[in-house]
Amino acid sequence: MLVEKNVPLEPWNTFHIVAKAHSLLRIANCADVQEVLADPNWGPHPKFVLGGGSNIVLTGDVKALVLKVEIMGKRLVQETDQAFIVEAGAGENWHDFVTWTLDQGYDGLENLALIPGTVGASPVQNIGAYGLELQDRFESLDAVDLQTGAAFTLNAAQCGFGYRDSVFKHGHGASGLGGATQRLGLAGRALIATVRFRLPKPWRAVVGYTDLERTMLETGVAQPSARQIYDWICDIRRAKLPDPAVLGNAGSFFKNPTVTPEQCADIIARDPKLVHYPLLDGSVKLAAGWLIDACGWRGKSVGHAGVYEGQALVLVNRGGATGGEVMTLAKAIQTSVYERFGILLEPEPLMV
Ligand code: EPU
Repeated sequence: MLVEKNVPLEPWNTFHIVAKAHSLLRIANCADVQEVLADPNWGPHPKFVLGGGSNIVLTGDVKALVLKVEIMGKRLVQETDQAFIVEAGAGENWHDFVTWTLDQGYDGLENLALIPGTVGASPVQNIGAYGLELQDRFESLDAVDLQTGAAFTLNAAQCGFGYRDSVFKHGHGASGLGGATQRLGLAGRALIATVRFRLPKPWRAVVGYTDLERTMLETGVAQPSARQIYDWICDIRRAKLPDPAVLGNAGSFFKNPTVTPEQCADIIARDPKLVHYPLLDGSVKLAAGWLIDACGWRGKSVGHAGVYEGQALVLVNRGGATGGEVMTLAKAIQTSVYERFGILLEPEPLMV
């Protein structure tokens, strides 16, 4: 077991915040996890699971033992009349995996192209974009309990998916592992090793999102292939969102809030241009990017942290930003949005 010491984490978080892991262990398979848990030194030590580092803000050096997930592999596990079931190791790069599925003819993940991060992180926040969420294509996952070393499998219901949410973001539930009907809180407790996806047959395009509808009108392509949608999504994302390799960021920094129709009407009375989407359950989703933009934050900076010019929902590292600066900026944005609209924006990334 090779524990590396004082490892710079800058290349491994997409915000490119400078911080170190006091100790870091690369995990290539479940046996590696079990070995660390059985180790008298490291077994009881706090642990932090690191995937692609695309949804974290490092606020200092990490004292917990960092388990850097490098479990690889991708394969078709089953093909039926109804679906392809495809599996990938948690350490696989998400976008490369999406590209691979399309290359193989397993369509269905194209709307989620170009999302930064790893396959293992994708269920944690139930990644979503352009009308599709991970839960729409999720089959099951294998994980290891970081307390007991036991391997376990969860289906979609057990993952408790919600908007940018799952059991992996909540504290420990009293029920422990295996209680299918109770809400499991597995934050910090599970290392996701393998994820399986169900890609339904026949494939159907998901093109209801405004940006895609607009592209269809502009190009005159009324029945796009999965590859065509993949290309459009890549173009749309590249035009709107900063490439983390060039400008450090963690994607959307806040969740889109939901409000009651009354709250929404109240805001519209004052701000008629409010961007809002009625949801099936009667509530209304607001565009957090619009709220932040309306408060004048687009393009602004606090220290070395800033608000992206092209999309106010994305905070960026303008070079040398600390996690503290990012948090100061985030709090200032929360305060102005709250003071103007009475809405408290909830951050998406995990503060470490
Ligand atoms: N808007 C503004 N000003 C801005 C930004 C946005 O007025 O500075 C308005 C836009 O004009 C648009 C609306 O807000 O009418 C929504 O913007 P957009 O379509 O860019 O989507 P979003 O709601 O801001 C969400 C996801 C993204 C995902 C896109 C596309 C969340 C928190 N974010 O953003 O996910 O790519 O939809 O589906 O749900 C991520 O989670 O990291 C992420 C990038």
